[in-house]
Amino acid sequence: MCGIVGYIGKNDTTKFLLDGLKELEYRGYDSAGIAVLGDKKIDVFKALGKLHNLEEKVNTSSSKDYELGIGHTRWATHGQPTELNAHPHLGEYSYVVHNGIIENYKELKEELINLGHKFVSQTDTEVIVHLFENYNNKLNDTTKAFHSTIERLEGAFSILLITKAEPTKIFFFKHGSPLIVAKGNDENEVLFASSDAPLIGLANDVVYLEDGVGGIATTEGIEFFNNNYSWSTLPTSKQFAQKNGFRFFMEKEIYEQSDVVVDCMLGRLSDNEILFDEIDKSLIDGINEIKICACGTSYHSGLTASYLFERLSKIKCNVEIASEFRYKDPLLTKDTLFVVISQSGETADTLEALKMAKVAGLKTLVICNVDNSSMTRTADATILTRAGIEKGVASTKAFTTQTIVLWMLALYFGKAKNVLTNDKLSEELHALREVPKSLIIDDNMHEKTKRLSKRYLHGHGFFFIGRDVFFPLALEGALKLKEISYLHAEGYPAGEMKHGPIALADPELFTIALMPQNLLYDKIKSNVEELSARDSTICSISPLDFDLSDDFIKINETDHYMLEFFEMLIALQLLSMEISVRLGNDVDMPRNLAKSVTVE
Ligand code: G6P
Repeated sequence: MCGIVGYIGKNDTTKFLLDGLKELEYRGYDSAGIAVLGDKKIDVFKALGKLHNLEEKVNTSSSKDYELGIGHTRWATHGQPTELNAHPHLGEYSYVVHNGIIENYKELKEELINLGHKFVSQTDTEVIVHLFENYNNKLNDTTKAFHSTIERLEGAFSILLITKAEPTKIFFFKHGSPLIVAKGNDENEVLFASSDAPLIGLANDVVYLEDGVGGIATTEGIEFFNNNYSWSTLPTSKQFAQKNGFRFFMEKEIYEQSDVVVDCMLGRLSDNEILFDEIDKSLIDGINEIKICACGTSYHSGLTASYLFERLSKIKCNVEIASEFRYKDPLLTKDTLFVVISQSGETADTLEALKMAKVAGLKTLVICNVDNSSMTRTADATILTRAGIEKGVASTKAFTTQTIVLWMLALYFGKAKNVLTNDKLSEELHALREVPKSLIIDDNMHEKTKRLSKRYLHGHGFFFIGRDVFFPLALEGALKLKEISYLHAEGYPAGEMKHGPIALADPELFTIALMPQNLLYDKIKSNVEELSARDSTICSISPLDFDLSDDFIKINETDHYMLEFFEMLIALQLLSMEISVRLGNDVDMPRNLAKSVTVE
């Protein structure tokens, strides 16, 4: 979720670092920093907000030549976006930048504090540099100290570390989060970046590091700790690199979902419970009802959650569209936990709804992707979704991570209220751990949606239908299609079709039927049969073959309906995108829409 860069060589170190960070700014930009080493001294510059703040600071206060340096642009996960929490993090004589999450940072921090180390930030990252110095002070060997440090870290991390104890070296390691090391175009130059974009034009030969691979770079070259690496050639187009080779940001973001849910769950799933450092179990004390408010896609994740809260936490839950809630003179009682959901944290209607709940004295919680946004600053408590920046206007990975957070929250409350048996909880935790797998995109499925898309470019409309949580998923599928194809689509509860909409059924009415095996299969099957009998064109998405479908997208058989939910979500996102592509629309920036709607 953050971006990192590093440089050793004869060219302008700060220029490479700042230019590189600019390329990575799309990954997160609540703060940025660089640590640069020259004449055995390390200078550090940090600034809040966009990168030009850091640039200004560096350019006004330094014209020195540096031999090497590391840099970071941050998207806060642990700790507020402040200068103290910005990377690089300092020990006594070393600096580190880190991308990922150190899951066991609390234990390590405690251990190091007991050993006399002083911490200044709230971040998980700071333990790395203290751990390194702790070992180096004992062993008087920077390489051994670096290895010992890595061995102690749990979670996901790509790391660059520099130290006055060895002022010609950059230590690097990758586990979980991405890191690339490159031979620069100039002799004796080594470059690092967490994705391609900063390296393009400056290097040809790169190693995309595998997990568990690290090493030491100097102007003499790169020494890898093991042989598990190979050189490859960099692409030459920046746009292509930012999109990681995908045609659109939306496509890239659909493909990223499997990875971002791993980030979203990191440190929050233990063997037998859900952990949320950022909230307290007492949040649910005295609460008899949850009210959720949100807009657009976020509203759909809220609606999904309402089924999960009632089913798993046994708490009454209702969901409202924020713009409706605001003007209905809502009755708010203090035994209600008020939850807002927002990717951006800035949507005007949702923010106003949150303020109303605060004025009424309710406990408030925001599920959000952007730390330090208006909503995270307003709510009593925040849970970040850690999806990374979402560029496509049509939301994809934000929805997925919101739904995961809400599912985890339902289990967290269920456990706090003692309404979940241990067996049920472990079944749910097992399913949660399987989600990243069910979000890996199968080439055949993508190919199938591409082929099917040509048959769905006309007609008089789409009905996406489902039951239970597959109803909000149907709403989300219809919204995706509307947003980027400009075709008329509605999401509908499958059982409700017979109460009106079925009058529209004919071959030109396209029904996208969500037919999970693990939840109410027979019920939805009979609803689809009713539509088929009226000659509606049916595309079903299911793990089970269904004879009456005109088209069929097969998903894997699993043992939990939420795994079917996420696999179907992928199918719906891909289908909308491929229809939009065939219609020649701008997938990432559809007409009339905005990524963040800060007006009423
Ligand atoms: C806009 C966007 C949608 C988004 C909605 C809510 O309409 O186009 O993609 O779902 O706002 O945004 P939020 O940032 O509050 O989740």
